[in-house]
Amino acid sequence: MAKGKNPKKERKPPSPGRPWKAWEGRLSEKSDPDVEQFTSSFSFDRRLFPYDIMGSIAHAEALSCSGLLTGEEAKAIVCGLKEIAAEGAEGSASDEDVHMYVERRLIEKIGEVGGKLHTGRSRNDQVALDLRLYLKEESKNLIGAIYNLQERLIDAAEAHLGTYLPGYTHLQRAQPISLAHYLLAYYEMIERDRTRLLDGLKRLDQMPLGAGALAGNPFSIDRLAVARTLGFSSVTANSLDAVSDRDFVVEFLSAASILMMHLSRWAEDWILWSSCEFGFIELPDKLCTGSSMMPQKKNPDLLELIRGKTGRVYGALFTLLTVLKGLPLTYNRDLQEDKPPLFDTVETLKNSLRIMTLLVSQVRFNEKRMADATEEGSLLATDLADYLVTKGLPFREAHRVVGKMVRAALASARPFPRWTLAQLKEHSPLFQEDVFRQMSTAASIAKRRGIGGTAISSIQLEIQKIKRLLKKSK
Ligand code: ARG
Repeated sequence: MAKGKNPKKERKPPSPGRPWKAWEGRLSEKSDPDVEQFTSSFSFDRRLFPYDIMGSIAHAEALSCSGLLTGEEAKAIVCGLKEIAAEGAEGSASDEDVHMYVERRLIEKIGEVGGKLHTGRSRNDQVALDLRLYLKEESKNLIGAIYNLQERLIDAAEAHLGTYLPGYTHLQRAQPISLAHYLLAYYEMIERDRTRLLDGLKRLDQMPLGAGALAGNPFSIDRLAVARTLGFSSVTANSLDAVSDRDFVVEFLSAASILMMHLSRWAEDWILWSSCEFGFIELPDKLCTGSSMMPQKKNPDLLELIRGKTGRVYGALFTLLTVLKGLPLTYNRDLQEDKPPLFDTVETLKNSLRIMTLLVSQVRFNEKRMADATEEGSLLATDLADYLVTKGLPFREAHRVVGKMVRAALASARPFPRWTLAQLKEHSPLFQEDVFRQMSTAASIAKRRGIGGTAISSIQLEIQKIKRLLKKSK
């Protein structure tokens, strides 16, 4: 337990010999140790410590402005709080939570005047404030982490405009695409995640202090001034809602779940790609693990863990939705259970984004394997059908003709880019010499130059747009 810098000056807790409880006036018996252990959230809500101090300083200043504390009292409280902040949160399980810890330490440090800090405030509005301050800061950190990952994705995309690989549907080779186009698909997904977090910041930006336990503040505290001091642009409008609302946590956890779902799909792609069967990527040894038994193994555990941790984040979302679903207004202690899933999710997201950033900047793409896979199979079948369409055949008929050609190609093990014009004409008289210009991966890709297509020219335009956007949001 922290002793403080100047223990001699410190007062004893109000009731020596037993852990101090704010409600000892009402409850005559010392809490059962099991009760303390079961109810205490200090082991995890100590993470809110810096925000609790910040909110307490703002509250002390507001009390002083409304004449509820003298200038001297406010100064003593603020100094005490700053000293406690410098010492760090080192309480024990007998501190019910971080709020009681700070108040206990304050009274020990500066004496009874410390007991004036909680005037007009409840832990119910206090914890709502702390949680919003915490989540505002962590959302910004995560937005920055997504941004870093996006920058690495753009670097990789620019380096691989002309790297071709099969695009898949049903995990079957479908049509040739540029690797840059593939990478930018993940850019788009996490861009939506980034803007979802940004949007959540709007609803986080309401300051709940002043709601009291539930009914509001009886003293003339200037809530707007407190909001300004703490960096909020508005205050919550209804005290009942303010102390019982955890929508902002649900919203964050759902944005987090969608983000993890995207990272998990990406991880799944790359787990497949790193297999011998695909061989599209090679991960550096320092980002892989081996087997304790099979000497030959090099495993993509980081990607598997991202995929696995996604379940954990979905679990957090469901934990909170379930905690909230039956709660009568207003504050109920159930709400204390919001913190472990929230804190865990923030850490999981930070780690997963960091790992994905490392992977994307260090992965080696096996261009040869990708090119070979693009040439095998019948990836140009749709282009051939499209060719016949340009010669006047209805698409449905063109599809049937090329379908038969694919069957013939498979039977003869001779892919149709290698067919002669005579062989092509056996299937349709519409085939002319110009078909050969179109029967290549590069031609197939170059044709798809509409907005959002895989043509290099479209991708380049897209990258320019993205770079402007990223620069603006930096
Ligand atoms: N530790 C509690 C929480 O995290 C805050 C305390 C409110 N407790 C109470 N009895 N009103 O929600």
